[in-house]
Amino acid sequence: MIKNKKILIVGAGGFIGGHLVKRLLNNNNFIVAVDLKPKEYWFQDYESVENHYSLDMKEISNCRKVTKDIDYVFNMACNMGGMGFIENNKAECMQSVLINTNLLISCKENKIKRYFFSSSACAYNKSKQQEVFIEGLKEDDAYPADPEDGYGWEKLFSERMCRHFMEDYGISVRVARYHNIYGPYGTFDGGREKAPAALCRKVFNARKNNESKIEVWGDGMQTRSFLYIDDCIEGTLKLFESNYSEPVNIGSDEQVSINQMIEIIEDISQTKKLERIYKLDKPKGVRGRSSNNDLVKKVLNWSFKVQLKDGLKKTYNWISEEMSKQGSNLSRFTKS
Ligand code: GDD
Repeated sequence: MIKNKKILIVGAGGFIGGHLVKRLLNNNNFIVAVDLKPKEYWFQDYESVENHYSLDMKEISNCRKVTKDIDYVFNMACNMGGMGFIENNKAECMQSVLINTNLLISCKENKIKRYFFSSSACAYNKSKQQEVFIEGLKEDDAYPADPEDGYGWEKLFSERMCRHFMEDYGISVRVARYHNIYGPYGTFDGGREKAPAALCRKVFNARKNNESKIEVWGDGMQTRSFLYIDDCIEGTLKLFESNYSEPVNIGSDEQVSINQMIEIIEDISQTKKLERIYKLDKPKGVRGRSSNNDLVKKVLNWSFKVQLKDGLKKTYNWISEEMSKQGSNLSRFTKS
């Protein structure tokens, strides 16, 4: 367990970053938390932390400032979202390369002891994800390179940047490829939301408004595996403290179709089966994706614990509470 350390968490106002701050607050750690977002849009915000709101880490002067006297850096920051965002904002997504690059340069100058980069399953070669049910993606499947356009290229490039900073300058790096992380204190409206949160929101709304239909992007047969946030944080910290410096999957191998996920949410919310209006022109991404966890089991002895139905229950409950508070307005966390 990490203790007595000075830790910088970049992207701390976001979903995974916020949960990581909460987890690392204990054990006499001192946390420096940074995010581009203004205070009111942070999902979690702790007083005992040195918070830097509205700080743009694409600027190297800011990176240099906040990496001074820091032991560990977690880079959880990027301009991202679900398919609806990344497919329509490729240039925006690619500019996150500046965050990772300027942070690495600053970490080298300030002699940081270890650096974590949050990569993504979007780094994997698209041609291996064209069937509905696929074998889980193994770490080697990222090459030959043909990742998700825009966002995935940024992740793959930044992974390599980490690797070369390790090889050439001796910086200790850890790289996780996250597979669709979901849970409370994440985006559920406004355009950046991923499928689990979006579908919880849609089912909640249908129930509330007594409607019998929901819109689904694609034909609903596409598959993914989804990882609950608590498992993500456990896996991240295990990786961080390990000796393993290559990219590794942090994901679940419980592969489900979008239609199956909707059924689970209908069960949780005790909603009768909704008619699904399939929107085939909406962003769909790859046809099938799941995580192969052989390597992560071997090198970290880690495996996900939370089944999708249990994680979705907590997520649905949180989203429905938030939506009940907000009425018909966008969520208080949403910055358009
Ligand atoms: N977002 C969203 N909203 N997706 C929907 C919806 C909806 O209302 N209805 C159906 N889907 C479908 C999408 O069309 C897609 O085929 C699938 O659900 C999963 O969509 P997302 O959760 O938005 O994205 P993803 O799994 O393709 O990629 C996400 O996970 C990656 C890591 O595994 C993205 O968030 C990436 O940024 C991330 O790297």
